[in-house]
Order: sequence, then structure tokens, then C-alpha cells
Amino acid sequence: MSSRPPAPLVTEARHRAAQPAPPCTLVIFGASGDLTRRLLIPSLCNLRRSRLLPERFAVIGVARAAMEEADFRRGLAEGLPDFAAEDWRWLAERVHYVAGELDDPATYERLARRLEKIGAAQGSAQNRLFYLATPAGLFAPVVLRLAAAGLVREQDGAWRRVIIEKPFGSDLPSAQRLNREILQVLEERQVYRIDHYLGKETVQNIMVLRFANGLFEPLWNRDHVDHVQITVAETLGVEHRGRFYDSTGTLRDMVPNHLFQLLTLAAMEPPTCFDADAVRTEKVKVLDCVHPLGAEDALRNVVRAQYGEGVVGDRRIEAYRRSPDVAPDSATETYVALKLMIDNWRWAGVPFYLRTGKALARRRSEVVIQFKQAPFTIFRDTPIERLAPNDMVLAIQPEEGVWLRFNAKVPGPNVHTGGVEMRFDYHDYFDGKPSTGYETLIYDAMIGDALLFQRADNIEAGWGVVQPALDAWARAARSALPQYPAGSEGPAEADLLLQRDGRRWRPLGGQ
Ligand code: BG6
Repeated sequence: MSSRPPAPLVTEARHRAAQPAPPCTLVIFGASGDLTRRLLIPSLCNLRRSRLLPERFAVIGVARAAMEEADFRRGLAEGLPDFAAEDWRWLAERVHYVAGELDDPATYERLARRLEKIGAAQGSAQNRLFYLATPAGLFAPVVLRLAAAGLVREQDGAWRRVIIEKPFGSDLPSAQRLNREILQVLEERQVYRIDHYLGKETVQNIMVLRFANGLFEPLWNRDHVDHVQITVAETLGVEHRGRFYDSTGTLRDMVPNHLFQLLTLAAMEPPTCFDADAVRTEKVKVLDCVHPLGAEDALRNVVRAQYGEGVVGDRRIEAYRRSPDVAPDSATETYVALKLMIDNWRWAGVPFYLRTGKALARRRSEVVIQFKQAPFTIFRDTPIERLAPNDMVLAIQPEEGVWLRFNAKVPGPNVHTGGVEMRFDYHDYFDGKPSTGYETLIYDAMIGDALLFQRADNIEAGWGVVQPALDAWARAARSALPQYPAGSEGPAEADLLLQRDGRRWRPLGGQ
């Protein structure tokens, strides 16, 4: 007999089949960059394959490089897998290019003329989605230029929306400033601040797991949960991103955005309905309840470290400081671990431990809900501290699933307990479609569903939580930065953060 469950066990999905998005033109600023080629164009091909793009659809790439439209298309085609050939043929006919400096009003005049022409050919469709895949310093200038050119004014029932990539600010004041600048000329409902973690199926599944089941929610609180661990571990080092990374660091790059998405989805209250504002309001409430890190806590409860040389798998990795475009005496962190407390009725007293880093032993993203131990053991030969933990692992990547771990009797005449696991793995039940993770996000922006995007207050609340750590680090001596060897589980200081509380991280290699 197979040990695997028969797949699929699920009943027929009863959701309404998704409809193609309304006719529109997608304008990508920064179109000659990596993001467009590696993720956006493949996502559009995948959306086309799923029949979710409208027939009356166009893409206009805008970038500095002077090039022919045909060359632009050729460059985009190069990155595509063979199976996308047919979808690309459909898309390529709809791809255009406008060259120009993004701070030059003339670029926007040319863009406006091109949009007019395409709009006229498309008939009634004058909906426009602007995607800012540019360096962060250009977000506000591009939005202001678009507004000055009259390109974000909604009229005759047509919409204008703007997708803004990360990083949205580099600290609380800069994020507030950016919000102020763009909201001078756009309504909040026109702004789609992206966090690609929300495009991941397994991240979205946290909400379904919690709110489509009666089983877990009664346990999901301080009465039953001992603590929560959130991990986003990467094996890659900084690679060719030294210039960006050295002035950013792991805290800014990962925590207020990706890790806080996982935190808020795991910790939020049930929203009143599955609607963008209801969900985003619950998420911001979690961040508002995070116990503010005082100056001392910001150093004690937030650990940072940088990787030295080492071996990850069978790859030798140079020390971070020897990476291209990184200062040889850089004090930028490549790892961060933090302990946060959430001051509300559900979570008071339950620590949330978060960690993320580069060049670690394993690639693994997960949320672990560790339940309280049995209060007392009746099994004389198994001291309570030797019982396997009762925990639930929400595996985000590379493994995708949910695993529940508990104790069972080891067969034999004596009563011995052993840890066992009940597993749900996505691939046992659902067919994986090729996906970049951006498909849902682009499609949602086209249909006007902002649920998976960050509202201004979500962004600011996230920065507000980490700002004390940024301030404390700015004051601290550079020598205070611990090191960890590439390929390890992270710095000893991060272990101490949990050991202090009588706990330990779930090993990255699993257990
Ligand atoms: C990006 C960060 O936002 O997310 C990168 O800038 C990081 O540094 C990446 O590697 C992680 O994303 P994923 O989807 O690979 O987990």
C-alpha cells in the first residue's frame, strides 16, 4: 500500500473561475532591467497561458537605452523558456518601447502620444497600469512626472493605477515622505505597493489555513502557543548586488516587508471579510501592537551579523566583505534575528522570533507555531523535556506544505514516545503550474484588487517597528558586529537570543 495519501483528496474548487482582466495597457518603467526580463514578461506569458490577459492588451517598456522596438522584444524573448513560445508570440505583437530619461518631461510626452495611439487602436480601452520597476530613488519623480503629464487622471470610467516595487523607503521618515509625495497626486486606491512574498501561494495559504478551518483557530493563541518562529534563510550570498546591498543590509531588505508579511498573516485577527481594506486593517493592527523596542531592547533583542568565508553545499563562498562593490570594512549586516512581543489579548506573553540571512546552511522559509508542552507526563521513562515538541510548520519554500508534529508510542512492550509528523505537501494535491509569483499580483492590480498589496499605513507601521533598531545600530560601535561562517546556521548570538528564554531555533537542516 502506498504511504502517500491518494491525490487529490480535495473536493472540486467552488470558486468562480477567474475571468480575463479588463482591456488595458501596462507601462513598465525600468523596462531594460532584470526584473522585467526575469519576472514580469514571463509572468505575462503565464497569465496569457491561463487566459487571464484581455485580447485588447499592450505593454510599453520605458527605459533610458536608445534601442529599436525589435531589439527590445528580442532581449525579452531571450530569457523565456521554450514552453512560453506560443504565449510570447501573442504577447510580442503587443510589446512597444519608448526610450527616454525618466526625469525628462519629454519622455512622458512621447509616452502620452504612444498611449493615445495604442488606446485608439484598442477602442474603448484606456485603462492604464504603470509599473515602477526602477531604482527606489525614481519612484516619486516618476509618479510626479506622470501626474504632471496628466497620465494618472482618471476619466470616462477608465482607471489609472501605479504598482510600486520595493524598497518603499529606507526607514520610517523616508517611507512617510514617499507616501506623502505620491499621495499628493494619486488616491490611495490607485497605489499598489508590491511585496512579492504576497504573490507566493504558500504565503496566501496562511490565511486560508487559519480562516477556512475550524480546527486550528481555537489553538491559535496565548493559551496554547508557546512561541512562534519565522525563518527566511537563503543560501545565496550577496552575489552581484553588492552596491545595493551594502547600503541596505538585511534588516531593511527583508524584515519590514517580507518577514512582517509572514508575521502579520500568522498573528492577525480574523478580518470581517475577505476584502482588501478589511485584511489590511487587521494586518496593520498586529504591527501597531508590537511592543516598541526601547533603546536597550533594540540591541538586546535584535541580533545582526555578517557572513565570513565558508562553504554552502559544495560552493565556496567568499567573505561578504570581499564581494564585488562591498566596502572591505563594511559593517552591513547579512543576517538578522529578532524577538518581538505582541501586546494584545491573543498574543500577550508569546514571543515571536524572526530570523533571516544570506549564505546560510539551507534555503528555507517557514513559520513554526510551537505549541505548549503537555503540562505533566505520566510516562515515567520519558521526562517531559524529552517529549518531541508539538509544533506546526507552515513551510513556504522550497518545500511547500503544512506539517504537524506530535508524540506517538514507539511500538514495543515498554511505553516509549517518539516524535512523528503528519504532512500535507502541496505537490501531493495540486498540480504546480510554472509561476514566477508575480502573476497573481499583476492580475490583481489589473482587476483592482489590492488585498495582496501594502497600504500606506502597513508600510509605515512596518518601518515603525524596526526604526529603533536602525537608530540603535547607527549609534553603536562598528566592532559590535558578530560574524558567522557562510554555510552555517547563523551566529551564536542568535542562538543565545532563544537560549535566554529556554528555547532553541528549529535547525535549518530540519530535525
Ligand atoms: C528580495 C530581496 O526582496 O527578496 C533579496 O531584495 C532576497 O535580497 C529576495 O534574496 C528573497 O526572495 P525569495 O522569493 O527568493 O525568497
